[in-house]
Amino acid sequence: MTTVTAPPPPAARTATPAPLVSVRGLQVAYGDGPLVLDGVDLDLFPGETVALLGSSGSGKSTLMKSLTGFAPITGGSAQVAGHDVGTLRRGRLRNLRADVGQVFQQFNLVGRLSVLTNVLTGALHGAGPVNAVGGFSSADRQRAMALLDRVGIAHKAKDQARTLSGGQQQRVAIARALMQRPRLILADEPVASLDPTMSHQVLDLLQEIARADGIPVLVSLHVLHLALDHSDRVVGLRHGEVLVSSPTAELDAERLAVVYDVSDADQEADDAGH
Ligand SMILES: Nc1ncnc2c1ncn2[C@@H]1O[C@H](COP(=O)(O)OP(=O)(O)O)[C@@H](O)[C@H]1O
Ligand SMILES: [Mg+2]
Repeated sequence: MTTVTAPPPPAARTATPAPLVSVRGLQVAYGDGPLVLDGVDLDLFPGETVALLGSSGSGKSTLMKSLTGFAPITGGSAQVAGHDVGTLRRGRLRNLRADVGQVFQQFNLVGRLSVLTNVLTGALHGAGPVNAVGGFSSADRQRAMALLDRVGIAHKAKDQARTLSGGQQQRVAIARALMQRPRLILADEPVASLDPTMSHQVLDLLQEIARADGIPVLVSLHVLHLALDHSDRVVGLRHGEVLVSSPTAELDAERLAVVYDVSDADQEADDAGH
C-alpha cells in the first residue's frame, strides 16, 4: 500500500503579509456637515490592486484624502505604512506624504516643463528646500529616464509635457509617483479623462506596478466593468459606507449593482425603456 501524504499548505497562507494600510471605523465630516464617510473599514496588502468603486459623491476621493491627512478624520483610525494618520502633525505628515505616490484624473503635470523634469519633481517629495534648489543629481536623472522607459515613453523625455496625449501624460504622472519610491499608490479616477483603449492600458500598468513592486495600489473608478477588469479586489462605497468588499473573481455586475444609488438604477431602467 502506498501512503497518501497530505498536500503542503498553500504558500500564501503561511506567508500572509501584514496590511500596509489598515482603516477601521473611519468617519469623516467636513466642518459642521454630515458624515461623508461613516464606519469605513479597509485593508490594503502589498502587491494588490484594489478598485474603489462608487458613484459621484459616494466618498471615494475623501477616503483617499483621509489616507494622506487631507480629510478631517472625526472618528475611527487610519494606519498607513506605520503612520497613525489622524494624529500626525506637520513634519510627520510630510514624511507620510513622501511615502504615498498619487495619480489624479487631470494628471497635474507642469505643462511647460519637460516630461523628464516632471518625473524628477517626484524626487522632491520629502526633500527640504535646499535640495529643491540644488537641482537634480545624475543618479536622479538616470532613474527618471529608467522610469520613463518602464512606462513606455522614454522617447518623449525632452518634450514639453503639455504636448503629450492624455494617456501619455498619465504615464508621466505614474513615473513621477514611482520616482518617490512610494510604499503605496493612490490613483483617484486616473482614467476618467481617457478613452477606453488608453484607460485599459493605464489600469494594466498600475496593476503591473502593484505586482512587480509589491506595493498596494488603490484606484478609484466609477465605471463598473473597469473595476472588474483591472483589480484583485473591489471595495464598493455608497453614501460613505462600504457595501461590498470582495475578491474581484467573486464579483459580477449584478453583485455590484448595490453600490449604485436606487435613483441611478431607476435612471438606467428608464434609459433601457422599462
Ligand atoms: N472639501 C469639502 N467640503 C465639503 N464637502 C465636501 C468636500 N469634499 C467633498 N465633500 C462632499 O463629500 C461627499 C463625498 O465627496 P467625494 O469624496 O468627492 O466623493 P467621490 O470622490 O466619490 O465623488 C460629497 O457629498 C461631497 O459634496
Ligand atoms: Mg472623486
